[in-house]
Amino acid sequence: MKNYDEMYAILSDIRSEEIVNEMKHYIHHGNVTIYEHCEHVARLCYDMNRSLKLNSDLRVLLVGAMLHDFYLYDWHRVDDGSHRLHGYRHAATACRNAKKYFDIDDKIYQVIYSHMWPLNLGRIPQSKEAWILCLSDKCVSLYETLRLRSAGQ
Ligand SMILES: [Fe+2]
Ligand SMILES: [Fe+2]
Repeated sequence: MKNYDEMYAILSDIRSEEIVNEMKHYIHHGNVTIYEHCEHVARLCYDMNRSLKLNSDLRVLLVGAMLHDFYLYDWHRVDDGSHRLHGYRHAATACRNAKKYFDIDDKIYQVIYSHMWPLNLGRIPQSKEAWILCLSDKCVSLYETLRLRSAGQ
């Protein structure tokens, strides 16, 4: 079993905040909540950094990963039209929320802001941490989607 003590120590303040726990009420895909998805992405970022010896700033990488989809709505509900274009817009929404609730610095802001590249074509990741998050998010999303399909959901 892998040891994520270091990761959870860095994220303990954020994970104990009620507003972050609200992500447990919204679904990312199938039966995976946004909170679980962000946690899976943070773990993969942590693993990738450690196994490839990338020597990232772990606070930037992990806080960015935990808050990268901090958008607090169900994007599947398109009834009022306000959540259309979710794929294009949610990174900016997550940045706004992360700034509002945690006053994140510019490095973390950029990591979250660019995580949907290349869908957000102009937002090319600008740091090692941003590249790790961008890639990890895609791997985890693919895995969650394929697992969903194989479960027939
Ligand atoms: Fe996202
Ligand atoms: Fe994501």
